[in-house]
Amino acid sequence: MMFSFGAISLWLCLVTTGILASVPAWTPPLSTRGRYVVDADGNRFKLKGGNWHGASGTWTGSGDINDDANHHANENAHTMPLGLQYVPIDQILDSFEELGINTIRFQFSNAMLHDTTPVQDAWVAANPQFKGMTPLQVYDVVIKALTDRGFAVIVNNHTQLSLWCCGVDGNERWDESQSFDTWVSDWLFVVNRYKDNKRVVGADLYNEVRRDILTDPTWGGGGNADWQSASQLGADQIMLANPDILIIVEGINWIGLPVDGLPHSRPTLTPVANLSHTLLVSGKLVYSAHFYSYTGPNHSGATGIGETTDARYRDLSRADLFAVMNSEASYVALTEEMHYTAPVWMSEFGVLGRGGQGTSDAAWFGNFVDYLVQTDADFAFWPLVGYLTNGVGNGWALMNWDATGKRTGLFDGDDWREAAWNELIGSAGATGAMPAVPEWKLLTLDNGDFVQSVSVRTNNGDFDNGATKGACPDNLRLIGLSHSSTRGLCTDYSYGPGLWAADRAIEVVFDERHVGADWASGYTKYQCPAGYYASGYAIRGVKLSTVLCAHASQTLGTTSRTVWFDQGDNRADTLGGDFAPSQYKGSCEGDEYIGGVAFSTSLFRNGAPSAILCVSLLPWALCYHTCTIIPCTYFNKS
Ligand SMILES: *[C@@H]1O[C@H](CO)[C@@H](O)[C@H](O)[C@H]1NC(C)=O
Ligand SMILES: *[C@@H]1O[C@H](CO)[C@@H](O)[C@H](O)[C@H]1NC(C)=O
Ligand SMILES: *[C@@H]1O[C@H](CO)[C@@H](O)[C@H](O)[C@H]1NC(C)=O
Repeated sequence: MMFSFGAISLWLCLVTTGILASVPAWTPPLSTRGRYVVDADGNRFKLKGGNWHGASGTWTGSGDINDDANHHANENAHTMPLGLQYVPIDQILDSFEELGINTIRFQFSNAMLHDTTPVQDAWVAANPQFKGMTPLQVYDVVIKALTDRGFAVIVNNHTQLSLWCCGVDGNERWDESQSFDTWVSDWLFVVNRYKDNKRVVGADLYNEVRRDILTDPTWGGGGNADWQSASQLGADQIMLANPDILIIVEGINWIGLPVDGLPHSRPTLTPVANLSHTLLVSGKLVYSAHFYSYTGPNHSGATGIGETTDARYRDLSRADLFAVMNSEASYVALTEEMHYTAPVWMSEFGVLGRGGQGTSDAAWFGNFVDYLVQTDADFAFWPLVGYLTNGVGNGWALMNWDATGKRTGLFDGDDWREAAWNELIGSAGATGAMPAVPEWKLLTLDNGDFVQSVSVRTNNGDFDNGATKGACPDNLRLIGLSHSSTRGLCTDYSYGPGLWAADRAIEVVFDERHVGADWASGYTKYQCPAGYYASGYAIRGVKLSTVLCAHASQTLGTTSRTVWFDQGDNRADTLGGDFAPSQYKGSCEGDEYIGGVAFSTSLFRNGAPSAILCVSLLPWALCYHTCTIIPCTYFNKS
């Protein structure tokens, strides 16, 4: 949640009795199929969520932390989920059920994790069962209460300090005030703490990565400010600790200085098209993005200092808003079978509901909700819970209470957002069993080793000492390579995820011993032995060092052809997308595997991959060009 907002007016509130509707049944853990989140039975689990903040802090950073006036909108959460001071927890959870949501994005701050001071009795007056607990113990109990009700909980590292988010406040970056290692070890603490509760379904790695005073975060390129790399490495550690959990990665929220004439923008998920994540466990990646009416593609959201003449999202026409939401975020979900294709969770959006409404805000909210409905997007409203006393207070929350525990909720009259909310929550989108879809994943050796196979990490460790190594996840094979050496493409197309034999045998090929026919005359050829397919490779500089070959679980075809890509692109199709932008690359057809790689170190050649040997699958899988004969989209053989 960024910056702060405006005016408040008076309301009389009608208190009505809530209509209880419990969370529909679902089976954890969750995973993904293409753009959809699915439950353990393969049924769509649309993330219909809300943010319950408070444990991440509400203090604005100056003045007495115990004075409510020094908290955002005077809402002092005492570093606990907001509301517990005045409302019994069951009433809060009832209200979530009434809203129709199934997922809670649940903020915490690093400071909260380490706070050993018990909460004061007065702070939990409405919930005396929490007396004497630390904020973390309260967080634990609230998570259990939520998941006992059937909600999915996604824990979100919102801030380091327990502060209202998001300016230049020491929370801009995951490693802002400490090392990357501490960030990761804190995540492991959280993930291990809730590991046995399978309804804690996701780890939302960091909130609104943005520029600090001097440095812009980057997406790729390496170094301390590279969010893509940090989130990839952090996700690897989390996946090893809990392979069931979804990893939520938000795009970059802000770069540049918000001054007219200087470059500044909100990259969001735009750079994912060129550089996506490949997790150790497939089907666990969810991207996310935040949108507010008062921010914009180039607008910081500020009023006064930091305000520019750029358009805010609410200034955009419906068509322009839709276009920018697509190019900044939704294309990731809506473009099928790309290396980056994943669900996109619109995990923060919101608007002032009670206490006045600008016309442009109303238009924005209507359009925004229509877009979420049309694109069947996963979402989470900001915020669920707020304080409102006789109409005075924040006014953004869907459910509000005063200090006497009197509720003013979305459905209690006089909240102009009710109709749009009903449209949003009432739109089921795709439901039921989601088909398995082929996966396409990047291998990126840009910044060093990228061994994304759990088996290779576990059993084969440093398979080419001193070289830079890449390996596809266990369920995928290599299908493309770049002439720049650092990029590869992995897939399970045609074969499904079960191609690697149960013995998990590999052979690391470092010479021409398995070459039969000369399929690349004058070039050095590293070829997999019979019954093996390429699943990774290693380089020294740009020179190919070894090919990692995996033992196939089935008889492989042997009809082969050479695909050259040293003079230009040579890709069978565009499935998987551009896995090495502005580099030459080659890929086999979807019904082939890579059986070998050719390179040359002769004069004027640097040893980079120049050709691949594409070998056919067996006839049963020859569906790629014969879809009219064999109705095929995907053979799931696992
Ligand atoms: C959350 O992010 C902050 C800010 O960088 C970091 O200091 C802290 O270690 C993180 N906490 C966890 C649990 O990841
Ligand atoms: C606005 O953002 C876009 C990218 O989203 C960028 O190309 C453009 O340069 C930005 N404009 C300014 C004024 O920084
Ligand atoms: C992707 O890479 C290409 C080639 O380097 C570049 O032209 C393009 O701007 C990049 N796209 C994004 C969204 O970064």
